Amino acid sequence: MEALVGKDLLSLADLSAPELQGVLSLATQMKAGTASPVSKKVLGLLFTKASTRTRVSFSVAMYQLGGQVIDLNPNVTQVGRGEPLEDTARVLDRYLDAIAIRTYDQQDLVTFAHYAQMPVINALTDLAHPCQVLADLQTIQENFKQFSGLTLTYFGDGNNMAHSLLLGCALMGVNVRIAAPQDYQPLSNVVQKAQQIAGDRSEITITTDAKAAAEGTHILYTDVWASMGQEDSAESRIPLFEPYQVNAELLALANQDAIVLHCLPAHRGEEIAHDVMEGQQSRIWDQAENRLHAQKALLACLLGAN
Ligand code: CP
Ligand code: NVA
Repeated sequence: MEALVGKDLLSLADLSAPELQGVLSLATQMKAGTASPVSKKVLGLLFTKASTRTRVSFSVAMYQLGGQVIDLNPNVTQVGRGEPLEDTARVLDRYLDAIAIRTYDQQDLVTFAHYAQMPVINALTDLAHPCQVLADLQTIQENFKQFSGLTLTYFGDGNNMAHSLLLGCALMGVNVRIAAPQDYQPLSNVVQKAQQIAGDRSEITITTDAKAAAEGTHILYTDVWASMGQEDSAESRIPLFEPYQVNAELLALANQDAIVLHCLPAHRGEEIAHDVMEGQQSRIWDQAENRLHAQKALLACLLGAN
Protein backbone atom coordinates (compact mmCIF):
# COMPACT_ATOMS: atom_id res chain seq x y z
CA MET A 1 0.00 0.00 0.00
CA GLU A 2 2.77 2.42 -0.90
CA ALA A 3 0.18 4.81 -2.33
CA LEU A 4 -1.05 5.60 1.19
CA VAL A 5 2.31 6.46 2.77
CA GLY A 6 2.20 9.93 4.28
CA LYS A 7 -1.46 10.56 3.37
CA ASP A 8 -4.17 12.01 5.63
CA LEU A 9 -7.40 10.18 6.46
CA LEU A 10 -9.86 12.99 7.17
CA SER A 11 -12.74 11.17 5.45
CA LEU A 12 -13.25 7.84 3.70
CA ALA A 13 -13.61 9.87 0.53
CA ASP A 14 -9.81 10.33 0.79
CA LEU A 15 -9.42 6.67 -0.23
CA SER A 16 -10.08 4.99 -3.56
CA ALA A 17 -11.97 1.68 -3.57
CA PRO A 18 -8.75 -0.37 -4.20
CA GLU A 19 -6.96 1.54 -1.39
CA LEU A 20 -9.80 0.84 1.04
CA GLN A 21 -9.88 -2.82 0.02
CA GLY A 22 -6.09 -2.90 0.52
CA VAL A 23 -6.44 -1.61 4.10
CA LEU A 24 -9.19 -4.16 4.81
CA SER A 25 -7.10 -7.04 3.43
CA LEU A 26 -4.18 -5.96 5.59
CA ALA A 27 -6.56 -5.72 8.57
CA THR A 28 -7.48 -9.39 8.02
CA GLN A 29 -3.77 -10.27 8.01
CA MET A 30 -3.24 -8.19 11.16
CA LYS A 31 -6.04 -10.14 12.85
CA ALA A 32 -4.31 -13.36 11.83
CA GLY A 33 -1.13 -12.16 13.56
CA THR A 34 0.88 -10.43 10.84
CA ALA A 35 2.21 -7.13 12.08
CA SER A 36 4.68 -5.09 10.06
CA PRO A 37 6.90 -3.09 12.42
CA VAL A 38 6.85 0.70 12.53
CA SER A 39 9.54 0.85 15.22
CA LYS A 40 10.52 4.24 16.61
CA LYS A 41 7.48 5.91 15.03
CA VAL A 42 5.31 8.00 17.32
CA LEU A 43 1.58 8.69 16.97
CA GLY A 44 0.07 11.66 18.81
CA LEU A 45 -3.49 11.43 20.14
CA LEU A 46 -5.17 14.85 20.33
CA PHE A 47 -8.69 14.19 21.64
CA THR A 48 -11.03 16.95 22.76
CA LYS A 49 -13.90 14.48 23.28
CA ALA A 50 -14.12 11.32 25.40
CA SER A 51 -13.09 7.98 23.91
CA THR A 52 -12.58 4.41 25.07
CA ARG A 53 -12.31 2.27 21.92
CA THR A 54 -10.51 4.71 19.63
CA ARG A 55 -7.99 5.83 22.23
CA VAL A 56 -7.17 2.33 23.47
CA SER A 57 -7.17 0.61 20.06
CA PHE A 58 -4.83 3.21 18.55
CA SER A 59 -2.53 2.93 21.59
CA VAL A 60 -2.44 -0.88 21.51
CA ALA A 61 -2.04 -0.89 17.71
CA MET A 62 1.04 1.35 17.88
CA TYR A 63 2.53 -0.73 20.72
CA GLN A 64 1.96 -3.98 18.81
CA LEU A 65 3.49 -2.47 15.67
CA GLY A 66 6.60 -1.50 17.65
CA GLY A 67 5.90 2.24 17.81
CA GLN A 68 4.61 4.51 20.55
CA VAL A 69 1.75 6.83 21.37
CA ILE A 70 1.86 10.18 23.10
CA ASP A 71 -1.29 11.53 24.69
CA LEU A 72 -1.82 15.20 23.82
CA ASN A 73 -4.80 15.76 26.07
CA PRO A 74 -5.72 19.45 25.67
CA ASN A 75 -5.83 19.74 29.48
CA VAL A 76 -2.11 19.12 29.72
CA THR A 77 -0.94 20.84 26.55
CA GLN A 78 -1.16 24.45 25.42
CA VAL A 79 -4.01 23.41 23.09
CA GLY A 80 -6.35 23.71 26.08
CA ARG A 81 -5.10 27.27 26.67
CA GLY A 82 -5.96 28.32 23.14
CA GLU A 83 -2.65 28.06 21.25
CA PRO A 84 -3.67 28.40 17.60
CA LEU A 85 -4.07 25.09 15.78
CA GLU A 86 -1.86 26.37 12.96
CA ASP A 87 1.03 26.84 15.42
CA THR A 88 0.41 23.55 17.25
CA ALA A 89 0.30 21.67 13.94
CA ARG A 90 3.61 23.08 12.73
CA VAL A 91 5.37 22.29 16.01
CA LEU A 92 3.95 18.80 16.51
CA ASP A 93 4.84 18.01 12.90
CA ARG A 94 8.51 18.37 13.89
CA TYR A 95 8.18 15.71 16.62
CA LEU A 96 5.55 13.19 15.58
CA ASP A 97 5.19 10.75 12.67
CA ALA A 98 1.37 10.88 12.60
CA ILE A 99 -1.49 12.30 14.63
CA ALA A 100 -5.03 11.11 15.33
CA ILE A 101 -7.44 13.92 16.21
CA ARG A 102 -10.90 13.67 17.79
CA THR A 103 -12.77 16.96 17.88
CA TYR A 104 -15.97 18.76 16.90
CA ASP A 105 -15.34 20.72 13.70
CA GLN A 106 -14.06 18.89 10.62
CA GLN A 107 -12.55 22.19 9.50
CA ASP A 108 -10.08 21.97 12.42
CA LEU A 109 -8.73 18.75 10.91
CA VAL A 110 -8.48 20.34 7.49
CA THR A 111 -6.57 23.28 9.01
CA PHE A 112 -4.27 20.95 10.97
CA ALA A 113 -3.61 18.84 7.87
CA HIS A 114 -2.79 21.98 5.90
CA TYR A 115 -0.08 22.99 8.36
CA ALA A 116 1.35 19.50 9.04
CA GLN A 117 3.16 17.24 6.58
CA MET A 118 2.61 14.08 8.67
CA PRO A 119 -0.52 11.94 8.20
CA VAL A 120 -3.53 13.38 10.04
CA ILE A 121 -6.14 10.76 10.97
CA ASN A 122 -9.75 11.62 11.75
CA ALA A 123 -10.49 9.88 15.06
CA LEU A 124 -14.08 11.32 14.97
CA THR A 125 -15.52 14.71 14.23
CA ASP A 126 -19.13 15.88 14.16
CA LEU A 127 -19.02 15.16 10.42
CA ALA A 128 -17.31 11.79 10.14
CA HIS A 129 -15.90 8.72 11.87
CA PRO A 130 -13.90 6.92 9.16
CA CYS A 131 -11.80 4.70 11.46
CA GLN A 132 -14.97 3.16 12.90
CA VAL A 133 -16.16 2.31 9.40
CA LEU A 134 -12.88 0.56 8.55
CA ALA A 135 -13.68 -1.86 11.40
CA ASP A 136 -17.34 -2.06 10.35
CA LEU A 137 -16.39 -3.05 6.81
CA GLN A 138 -13.90 -5.60 8.11
CA THR A 139 -16.67 -7.11 10.25
CA ILE A 140 -19.08 -7.19 7.30
CA GLN A 141 -16.46 -8.84 5.08
CA GLU A 142 -15.71 -11.43 7.78
CA ASN A 143 -19.38 -12.36 8.03
CA PHE A 144 -20.50 -12.30 4.42
CA LYS A 145 -17.13 -12.95 2.67
CA GLN A 146 -18.02 -10.40 -0.02
CA PHE A 147 -19.61 -6.95 -0.29
CA SER A 148 -21.53 -7.25 -3.50
CA GLY A 149 -25.28 -7.75 -3.17
CA LEU A 150 -25.37 -6.65 0.48
CA THR A 151 -27.58 -3.92 1.94
CA LEU A 152 -26.74 -2.05 5.14
CA THR A 153 -29.50 -0.12 6.88
CA TYR A 154 -28.60 2.56 9.40
CA PHE A 155 -31.39 3.53 11.80
CA GLY A 156 -31.38 6.80 13.77
CA ASP A 157 -29.58 10.10 13.63
CA GLY A 158 -28.03 11.17 10.31
CA ASN A 159 -24.76 11.88 12.11
CA ASN A 160 -21.02 11.27 11.71
CA MET A 161 -21.60 7.49 11.63
CA ALA A 162 -24.30 7.77 8.97
CA HIS A 163 -21.99 9.94 6.87
CA SER A 164 -18.99 7.61 7.05
CA LEU A 165 -21.14 4.53 6.45
CA LEU A 166 -22.57 6.17 3.34
CA LEU A 167 -19.08 6.79 1.95
CA GLY A 168 -17.53 3.47 3.05
CA CYS A 169 -20.41 1.37 1.73
CA ALA A 170 -20.47 3.30 -1.53
CA LEU A 171 -16.74 2.66 -1.98
CA MET A 172 -17.22 -1.09 -1.43
CA GLY A 173 -20.39 -1.37 -3.53
CA VAL A 174 -22.73 -2.08 -0.60
CA ASN A 175 -26.30 -0.69 -0.85
CA VAL A 176 -27.05 1.76 1.96
CA ARG A 177 -30.38 2.79 3.43
CA ILE A 178 -30.55 5.55 6.03
CA ALA A 179 -33.79 5.58 8.05
CA ALA A 180 -33.92 8.81 10.06
CA PRO A 181 -36.52 11.32 11.26
CA GLN A 182 -37.17 14.10 8.74
CA ASP A 183 -35.11 16.74 10.55
CA TYR A 184 -32.21 14.39 11.33
CA GLN A 185 -31.28 13.08 7.90
CA PRO A 186 -27.64 13.03 6.73
CA LEU A 187 -26.18 16.13 5.08
CA SER A 188 -27.16 16.32 1.44
CA ASN A 189 -23.61 17.04 0.27
CA VAL A 190 -22.41 13.78 1.89
CA VAL A 191 -25.30 11.85 0.32
CA GLN A 192 -24.43 13.33 -3.07
CA LYS A 193 -20.76 12.43 -2.64
CA ALA A 194 -21.75 8.84 -1.74
CA GLN A 195 -24.05 8.65 -4.78
CA GLN A 196 -21.22 9.88 -6.97
CA ILE A 197 -18.86 7.22 -5.55
CA ALA A 198 -21.49 4.46 -5.78
CA GLY A 199 -22.35 5.20 -9.42
CA ASP A 200 -24.44 2.30 -10.66
CA ARG A 201 -22.66 -0.26 -8.42
CA SER A 202 -24.89 0.26 -5.39
CA GLU A 203 -28.05 2.05 -4.33
CA ILE A 204 -28.42 4.77 -1.72
CA THR A 205 -31.81 5.34 -0.09
CA ILE A 206 -32.68 8.03 2.44
CA THR A 207 -36.06 7.54 4.12
CA THR A 208 -38.09 8.24 7.24
CA ASP A 209 -39.68 4.76 7.08
CA ALA A 210 -37.75 2.44 9.43
CA LYS A 211 -39.84 -0.66 8.69
CA ALA A 212 -39.55 -0.35 4.91
CA ALA A 213 -35.80 0.21 5.32
CA ALA A 214 -35.48 -2.96 7.43
CA GLU A 215 -37.11 -5.21 4.79
CA GLY A 216 -34.58 -7.80 3.62
CA THR A 217 -31.55 -5.87 4.82
CA HIS A 218 -28.33 -7.77 5.66
CA ILE A 219 -26.83 -5.38 8.20
CA LEU A 220 -28.79 -3.39 10.78
CA TYR A 221 -26.67 -0.56 12.18
CA THR A 222 -27.44 2.03 14.80
CA ASP A 223 -25.76 4.67 16.95
CA VAL A 224 -26.78 6.96 19.81
CA TRP A 225 -29.62 9.39 19.12
CA ALA A 226 -27.64 12.29 20.61
CA SER A 227 -23.93 12.43 19.86
CA MET A 228 -21.17 13.97 21.96
CA GLY A 229 -21.87 17.69 22.14
CA GLN A 230 -25.65 17.20 21.69
CA GLU A 231 -26.41 16.08 25.24
CA ASP A 232 -28.75 19.04 25.85
CA SER A 233 -31.24 17.79 23.23
CA ALA A 234 -31.02 14.11 24.25
CA GLU A 235 -34.31 13.99 26.19
CA SER A 236 -36.33 15.84 23.56
CA ARG A 237 -35.07 13.53 20.79
CA ILE A 238 -36.36 10.31 22.43
CA PRO A 239 -40.02 10.41 21.25
CA LEU A 240 -38.97 11.37 17.72
CA PHE A 241 -36.46 8.55 17.44
CA GLU A 242 -38.45 5.73 19.08
CA PRO A 243 -39.66 4.25 15.73
CA TYR A 244 -36.00 3.82 14.76
CA GLN A 245 -35.01 1.58 17.70
CA VAL A 246 -33.27 -1.60 16.50
CA ASN A 247 -35.39 -4.23 18.24
CA ALA A 248 -36.81 -7.72 17.62
CA GLU A 249 -39.62 -6.28 15.51
CA LEU A 250 -37.25 -4.55 13.04
CA LEU A 251 -34.87 -7.51 13.07
CA ALA A 252 -37.74 -9.84 12.07
CA LEU A 253 -38.18 -7.82 8.86
CA ALA A 254 -34.52 -8.20 7.85
CA ASN A 255 -32.82 -11.01 5.90
CA GLN A 256 -32.73 -14.18 8.02
CA ASP A 257 -28.90 -14.10 8.08
CA ALA A 258 -28.79 -10.42 9.00
CA ILE A 259 -26.25 -9.14 11.52
CA VAL A 260 -26.54 -6.23 13.96
CA LEU A 261 -23.79 -3.65 14.39
CA HIS A 262 -23.37 -0.66 16.75
CA CYS A 263 -20.25 1.51 16.97
CA LEU A 264 -20.64 1.82 20.80
CA PRO A 265 -21.06 3.23 23.36
CA ALA A 266 -24.74 2.17 23.34
CA HIS A 267 -27.79 3.35 25.22
CA ARG A 268 -29.68 0.07 25.70
CA GLY A 269 -33.43 0.62 25.55
CA GLU A 270 -33.02 3.70 23.35
CA GLU A 271 -31.44 3.13 19.92
CA ILE A 272 -31.02 -0.63 20.52
CA ALA A 273 -33.01 -3.17 22.55
CA HIS A 274 -31.01 -5.09 25.15
CA ASP A 275 -32.03 -8.52 23.76
CA VAL A 276 -30.90 -7.58 20.22
CA MET A 277 -27.58 -6.24 21.47
CA GLU A 278 -26.92 -9.48 23.33
CA GLY A 279 -28.63 -11.71 20.76
CA GLN A 280 -27.32 -14.30 18.28
CA GLN A 281 -27.27 -11.88 15.36
CA SER A 282 -25.20 -9.25 17.15
CA ARG A 283 -21.61 -8.91 15.94
CA ILE A 284 -21.00 -5.84 18.10
CA TRP A 285 -18.09 -7.25 20.12
CA ASP A 286 -16.26 -8.54 17.02
CA GLN A 287 -16.85 -5.12 15.50
CA ALA A 288 -15.26 -3.43 18.54
CA GLU A 289 -12.30 -5.85 18.38
CA ASN A 290 -11.79 -5.03 14.72
CA ARG A 291 -11.07 -1.39 15.59
CA LEU A 292 -7.64 -2.66 16.68
CA HIS A 293 -6.90 -4.68 13.55
CA ALA A 294 -8.27 -2.12 11.09
CA GLN A 295 -6.38 0.78 12.66
CA LYS A 296 -3.20 -1.28 12.88
CA ALA A 297 -3.52 -1.86 9.13
CA LEU A 298 -4.23 1.82 8.52
CA LEU A 299 -1.19 2.89 10.57
CA ALA A 300 1.03 0.40 8.77
CA CYS A 301 -0.15 1.85 5.44
CA LEU A 302 0.17 5.53 6.38
CA LEU A 303 3.51 5.10 8.18
CA GLY A 304 4.96 3.02 5.37
CA ALA A 305 5.61 -0.16 7.36
CA ASN A 306 4.86 -2.54 4.52
N1 CP B 1 -16.88 3.79 18.68
C1 CP B 1 -16.03 4.66 19.21
O1 CP B 1 -15.39 5.47 18.55
O2 CP B 1 -15.88 4.53 20.56
P1 CP B 1 -15.11 5.52 21.53
O3 CP B 1 -15.90 6.81 21.56
O4 CP B 1 -15.11 4.82 22.85
O5 CP B 1 -13.73 5.77 21.00
N1 NVA C 1 -22.21 9.57 16.96
C1 NVA C 1 -21.45 9.27 18.15
C2 NVA C 1 -20.40 8.24 17.86
C3 NVA C 1 -19.59 7.82 19.04
C4 NVA C 1 -18.54 6.82 18.71
C5 NVA C 1 -20.82 10.54 18.69
O1 NVA C 1 -20.30 11.32 17.87
O2 NVA C 1 -20.88 10.79 19.88
